[in-house]
Amino acid sequence: MGGRIQAIILAAGRGTRMKSEVPKVLHTLFDRPLLDYPLAVLKQLGIRRPIVVVGWGKDKVLEYLDHQAVPVIQSPQLGTGHAVQIAKRKIGHFRGDVLIWPADMTLIRKETINQAIQEHVRSEATVTILSSFMVHPTGYGRILRRGGRVVGVREELDATSEERRIQEVNTGVYLFKAKPLFDTLKKIQPKNRKKEYYLTDTIHLIDEAGGRIQALPYALPEEALGVNSQADLAHAVRILNRKTIQKHQMEGVTVVSPEQTFIAPDVRIGRDTVIHPWTYIERGVRIGKNCQIGPFAKIRSGSVIEDKAIIGSFVEIVRSKIGKGVFAKHLTYLGDAAVGEGTNIGAGTITANYDGKNKNKTRIGKKAFIGVDTLLVAPVQIGDGAKTGAGAVLTRGTKVKKGEIFVGVPAHPLKPKGRRR
Ligand code: UD1
Ligand code: CA
Repeated sequence: MGGRIQAIILAAGRGTRMKSEVPKVLHTLFDRPLLDYPLAVLKQLGIRRPIVVVGWGKDKVLEYLDHQAVPVIQSPQLGTGHAVQIAKRKIGHFRGDVLIWPADMTLIRKETINQAIQEHVRSEATVTILSSFMVHPTGYGRILRRGGRVVGVREELDATSEERRIQEVNTGVYLFKAKPLFDTLKKIQPKNRKKEYYLTDTIHLIDEAGGRIQALPYALPEEALGVNSQADLAHAVRILNRKTIQKHQMEGVTVVSPEQTFIAPDVRIGRDTVIHPWTYIERGVRIGKNCQIGPFAKIRSGSVIEDKAIIGSFVEIVRSKIGKGVFAKHLTYLGDAAVGEGTNIGAGTITANYDGKNKNKTRIGKKAFIGVDTLLVAPVQIGDGAKTGAGAVLTRGTKVKKGEIFVGVPAHPLKPKGRRR
């Protein structure tokens, strides 16, 4: 699928309402720019080489895009219709279906897009508009129907008070047959309150020309959120987080207080693990079964936590592998570390993993005991069953062999009692 679909992502607008120097589409949602979300869905659907219309803050957006898409530059930005006119320069001869997706409609799911595509292809409509029903439709374009038939889209600013009561809104995602789209784009005029070329004006023109238009209300209100302001961005975080947490709950994870917990998409957590409040878990983290995480834990990308581990309060973990049944219950930073099964990490243990140039590794074996306030200046190796004393400073390159005990600053082997004088 996807062979005859050309996608165009609209990402040139300034995002005036964000009141920010950062282009809107580069604001992040769980560590990924807004623009990344539609790009990822298209990739999953096998729709290759989308065109991305960039404009405001183009240098930063182009740098971010790298080779992920075909960029076109819209300057100045005269509206969504104008943006598609610019994109058309790349695909003027294309005769399949054009999927248009505004980058600020970040939360639309793959399943929803796929349903709209299937139905568009099956029905052979000229245009398929992805719509949504909203209790509070303020700010969105409204779907105009006459006797059930879609005849146009009206922008909020240009709507009569009667039209404003319409609760079916335009998500801004459409599938168009290429030719009628390109033909009507030539005819739109900036005759509206914003003095912009509206893409939405192609709809009534297509209707007048006898084209068949359908609006499919497949988008749930929560996925049809346009990110236009900082408040919308925070709302999007809340929606995505809630959805992610619900998914984990259905798999048997206990999230004590979902509103106080942040879990990025693409995290895996095993059953009967308990996530305590004020925990923040980044993308790609894997947590096993029967673990206790938090309160106040930050588990960053690149981390794997195996079954029955306890990661307690004020513990940060990044790019580390934490073995089965490891305890790190309080005030610890483990970066670029591997910790073996059954090891106890005392309160205040810190890995000094970064020397200003490189990130260095800390390896701790099984059933080791790291004393309170141990400082591990990586690279450091600690063998199975080894121990460190409270406040030990293991300097760079230290190797503690299996069963050895290191104490002091700089840390050195603890002499057996008998040999002391
Ligand atoms: C648009 C739709 C509206 C719909 C809403 C859904 C139009 C005229 N209105 O309104 O019906 O309900 O989206 O979210 O299309 N952009 C460009 N170039 C431009 C202007 C905008 O690339 O010249 C991009 C923006 O970066 C953004 C997208 O197009 O990603 C939508 O623009 P925006 O100004 O946010 O439109 P809305 O007012 O939200
Ligand atoms: Ca918008």
